[in-house]
Formats: sequence, C-alpha cells, structure tokens
Amino acid sequence: MAKAKTTYFCQNCGYESAKWLGKCPSCQEWNTFVEEVVEKAGPRVPDWRTTTGAAPRGGKAAAIHEIEQVEERRLVTPDRELNRVLGGGIVPGSLVLVGGEPGIGKSTLMLQLALQLPGTKTLYISGEESEQQLKMRAERLSQSTKADCYILTETATRSIFKQIEATAPDLVIIDSIQTLHSAQIDSAPGSVSQVRECTAELLRFAKETAIPVFIVGHITKDGAIAGPKVLEHMVDTVLQFEGDRHHVYRILRAIKNRFGSASELGIYEMQGTGLREVSNPSEILLSQRENSMSGIAIAAMLEGMRPMLIEVQALVGNSAYGTPQRSSTGFDTRRMNMLLAVLEKRLGFRLSAQDVFLNIAGGLRVEDPAIDLAVVIAVISSQQDIPVSATVAFSGEVGLSGEIRAVNRIEQRIAEAEKLGFETIYISKYNTKGLDKSHYQIAIVPVAKVEEVFRAVFG
Ligand code: TYD
Ligand code: MG
Repeated sequence: MAKAKTTYFCQNCGYESAKWLGKCPSCQEWNTFVEEVVEKAGPRVPDWRTTTGAAPRGGKAAAIHEIEQVEERRLVTPDRELNRVLGGGIVPGSLVLVGGEPGIGKSTLMLQLALQLPGTKTLYISGEESEQQLKMRAERLSQSTKADCYILTETATRSIFKQIEATAPDLVIIDSIQTLHSAQIDSAPGSVSQVRECTAELLRFAKETAIPVFIVGHITKDGAIAGPKVLEHMVDTVLQFEGDRHHVYRILRAIKNRFGSASELGIYEMQGTGLREVSNPSEILLSQRENSMSGIAIAAMLEGMRPMLIEVQALVGNSAYGTPQRSSTGFDTRRMNMLLAVLEKRLGFRLSAQDVFLNIAGGLRVEDPAIDLAVVIAVISSQQDIPVSATVAFSGEVGLSGEIRAVNRIEQRIAEAEKLGFETIYISKYNTKGLDKSHYQIAIVPVAKVEEVFRAVFG
C-alpha cells in the first residue's frame, strides 16, 4: 500500500508547496495554505478511464501540413450573446468554464441554455439545488422547453459519469465544480486538489466523447473555496459572468477562448423571468432625458470588440470639509485624479478644494481610455454648470500634458455614434489620418488639446 500523499495548496491561486507557508509567493495572499491529500493510499483507478486519450497516433509527431482540418460543427444556441462570446456556438468536446460571484446569475444562464437548445438532449447536474428548486426556477424562466432537458442532483463524479452514460446527453452542465467530489482524492469538495481532479476527469470525458461540458465555478474574494483561477489553464474557454448585483445588467466576457476571440462580450438584463439578451447596449446605457443637464457627457467606447455609447456623470461641488472627497464608480479613481490634475494645470480649474464624484451609468466598469475625454467634459460641465448638448459624443484619451491622444478602432466608434443619432463627435486629431470624413453624416471634430475642446464645447 502506498502512503497517502499530502501537499499544501494556496486556496486562492492554486500554488503548490511541500510545506505550509504564511504568505503565498505567487499571489501574495496571507493565510491561504491548506493541507490536502492529493493521492489516496492504494492503487489509483480513474473514474473516467482513458482508453484512447488525446493522442490517437500513439504519441507520434505529425507534420502540420499532413493534419487534416476537419470543419468543426458548432452547436449554435438560440442565445446570440452566448454564441458571440463562444466564437460562434458551442464546439463539440469543448470544456467551458463559467465563472462569477455567487448570486450573479450563473445557474440561471446555464439552466436557460439547457432548456433552450432545440432538438438537443441536455443534462444539467446540480450539486447546489434540489430537483424541486430547479423545477421552480425552470417554471420561472417561462420558456417553452425546446430541449430534452434532464436534471441530476449529484456530487460524486463516479455516479455522475454513470448517469451520463445512461442518459447519453448532447450537452452536460455542471453546477458547480466546487461541489463535485471525486473518490480519487480525499480532500473536501471545493479544495484545490478536488477541483483540479474533477475538472481533469471532465476534461478527459469531453475530449473522448466529443460532448461539450459547461462548468460553473464560483469566485469568492476571500478565497474560502478554490477559485476558478486554478483551473483556467485546463479548460478550453473561460467565460466570466460579471456585473453589479444591484443593477440589472450582466456582462458575459470571454477571458480565454481556444476557439474564438477572447475580447468578445455579451450583455444581458436580469429580469423576473430570467436573463434577456441585450442586442443594442447603447440604448440602455444612455439615460433618456428631455433637457440637457450639466455634468453629463457621452463617451463612444469599446467593450471588447463592441462599440457602445455610455453616459459619464460628474458632480463637482465645494467641499464642506478640509479634505475634498474624490470618488468614482465604474472608473479608476487614480485615473480620475490624474485627469483632475490635468484640468488644474492646463485649464487653471481650481478643483483642489472641491468634491468630485464620478459615475458611469448602468453599473458598468470601464477600462477603455477613450472615455477620458468624456470624463473631463463631464467634470467641467458640472463645475461650470453648463450643460453639454445631448447630441454630442466624445472619444479620446487624455495625456498628462493635456493632449488628446488617438484611440483604437475610431471608425467603429464614429459609426456607432452616428447610428444612434448623435450629430457631433469629438475625436483626437491624431485619429484623423486615413479617416474618410465624407463617409459619415455625423460632424467629426478633431481636437489636439483639452484647451481646444474646452473652447469648442463651452465657448
Ligand atoms: P443564480 O443564477 O442563482 O446565481 P448564481 O448561480 O450565479 O449564484 O441567480 C441568482 C439571482 O438572480 C437571484 O438573486 C434571483 C435572480 N433571478 C432573477 O432576478 N430572475 C430570474 O428569473 C431568476 C431565475 C433569478
Ligand atoms: Mg448557482
């Protein structure tokens, strides 16, 4: 009998160490190491035994030009946002990880998928909810069930594979990987070694049978359970479901995709009856307003590959306390401080004694630097209490010396603004090279410095 082997794992990032450590050398988190039994005493029999494996030629190297390219037949789902994020549908035999914080809507998204696929047998395996709960949720989603959907509440991988064999589904969904348990490993469900082993078994299963498998994985900030980070490298595709739980909008983002672009994203709205696709994001991100209000500017930004227009709101007021407050939602606070410093220095705005609040509408977090210009304009507009016309959009990055820098894919941004009925767009002068203005109805105003934009917008 072999001795049981144990190792210490960082529960946050999966870093492995032979001895206990206080601080993880990989992710710098404290107190995350837990001892886990990685191999049980006795012989090892995998739950999903590989007979052929991934290398059908017996491990022989093949010349790349001799490898036949087989047209992959993707399973196209009725959910267009999901298709887009996956790169055009579900690839047979792919292992897809759907990560997100608890309560964000992963189970809803997956159950919706399981119910929607026309003419497909789907198996939804839940270790978190009872059959009754799942039935209730399915009723709530109130979709006419097109798929032949089966539900299994089970956590042991051995029984799961038995049931899969008995049901013979075309698609398997596991909710969630942190509840699964493999008999090969002694440690508790949700620990790094369990999560890894169960994923490895599912991976072998998916590759051998060509049945696609979706795995739900919870992300927690405190790292109480092993995060999906530890298995990102094992799966083909990593999708992240994110959003503010208090807002209704959710973003499904491809973080890694072996079968498509990793910069795609899908947008959903969480309704009482499940998730609804949002095909025109700008419509929801721009608030309806009749008269122009000060402190609002519209940015033409890109999320992944998708252009959208978003509202930036700023509130500038005299500070009641010695130290002014600076706060931003959906935008990096350090970047906001930098932009405020640029305004002080270049335009002589005395913002140091004023509170500045910044908000990106819709609960979105924006990383695209092209929104800088709209941030600057929103701040000035609020400070001066002069509204900016609702028909004007902005797209440009602001540099430290107040220069307006070029941004990528400017044509797409202009086209989106035009499509939504904007009449003017301010862009960087450096973006106009090779840009055919006669293409567009919208007036394109190139600017080089913040001073110029200030004069042009506020006169
Ligand atoms: P859920 O899918 O259970 O989240 P996760 O699996 O990521 O933990 O979704 C939880 C939230 O979604 C819950 O707060 C209720 C809400 N919800 C709706 O608003 N509408 C619906 O139709 C459903 C099914 C859930
Ligand atoms: Mg869930």
